[in-house]
Amino acid sequence: MIPVSKLPQTGTTIFTVMSALANEVGAINLSQGFPDYECPAELIELVNTAMKNGHNQYAPMAGLPALRERIAEKTEKLYGAVYNPDTEITVTAGGTQAIFTAICATIHPNDEVIVFEPAYDAYAPAIKLMGGTVKSLALEPPDYRIPWEMVKRLISSRTRMIILNSPHNPTSTILQQDDIEQLTTIVKNRDILILSDEVYEHLIYDGQTHQSMARYPELQQRSYIVASFGKLFHSTGWKLGYCMAPAHLMQEFRKVHQYLIFSVNTPMQVAVAEYLKNEQSYLALPQFFQEKRDHFRTGLSQTRFELLPCSGTYFQSVRYTGMSDESDAEFAKRLTTEFKVAAIPVSAFYNKAIDYQVLRFCFAKKIETLDRAIERLMKI
Ligand SMILES: Cc1ncc(COP(=O)(O)O)c(C=O)c1O
Repeated sequence: MIPVSKLPQTGTTIFTVMSALANEVGAINLSQGFPDYECPAELIELVNTAMKNGHNQYAPMAGLPALRERIAEKTEKLYGAVYNPDTEITVTAGGTQAIFTAICATIHPNDEVIVFEPAYDAYAPAIKLMGGTVKSLALEPPDYRIPWEMVKRLISSRTRMIILNSPHNPTSTILQQDDIEQLTTIVKNRDILILSDEVYEHLIYDGQTHQSMARYPELQQRSYIVASFGKLFHSTGWKLGYCMAPAHLMQEFRKVHQYLIFSVNTPMQVAVAEYLKNEQSYLALPQFFQEKRDHFRTGLSQTRFELLPCSGTYFQSVRYTGMSDESDAEFAKRLTTEFKVAAIPVSAFYNKAIDYQVLRFCFAKKIETLDRAIERLMKI
């Protein structure tokens, strides 16, 4: 028997497709967002020790208390918001599970969710699985600013949620103070939740400020904030993240979380709780990644690609208009097979067929890897 598909339009994610192609043809993989260098040795040591010390059984459903306490301390120190670790923070299997859980817990059939595109590809399928409607708004290069007047026009009595992602994958833009003001005005006196995907919160450059929803009480009160230790500690394969929300929202989140996954790998939680005691573990990240960003941008400026701005994340987008008439999917494929550098075609992050001839490269790579890639890209 063949089940009726709940996601008939959905195929395999572009990240899997491009990484598989990169492996097949032996290309330098700047497509999927993960580092090609090791995560900190100290962190690995802490996981090993936790395992040897017997932390190998189920963690509490909401996450290890020590880890939730560290997260609460970090959040208060950085953004001034006080989250109760017992009732307002849940440890998840990466940001992706937190996103799915928040949507699953709150979106009912026919609810509308506003999504800004290009968007991380996990949002729309989760909304559709819940019977919700994706109301997408396309952002345009080079600045990809949110057109708030158009957002106002999209709002209806069915709007249940707005999904934000800052720093933003794939465009590397960040929310600014005036975005916060516009958002605050729009949601005021309305029953609209915010899902704020902040997995790149510490990957922000040139001394700019991360506009976390946790900084703004009016927004924080209606927000699920999602974070990822995979992104912070160069350990995407550990799939460890968390969600923060006011107690009444977190209560609904946990109703789903407990049956979706119940709890998350224990030794990693023990290790990260310890590792977070050193705040340099995350405060040093902007400089670490800014050096890579600057190195990669300097190299790319010697190619024919047009560099787009990069204020955050570990992605750099480029436009190839004038270099080829191919669609971005075709061009990305040829770049991988002929020039042996894999990138993500940004059209894959749009629901509709929108192609601005933009590619996304990941620069969370060793400097040697970036240099080898630049050498190849200069030949185009
Ligand atoms: C915008 C965004 N949100 C969420 C995630 C998921 O994070 P995790 O790997 O912790 O599930 C990613 C990963 O690439 C991402 O880019």
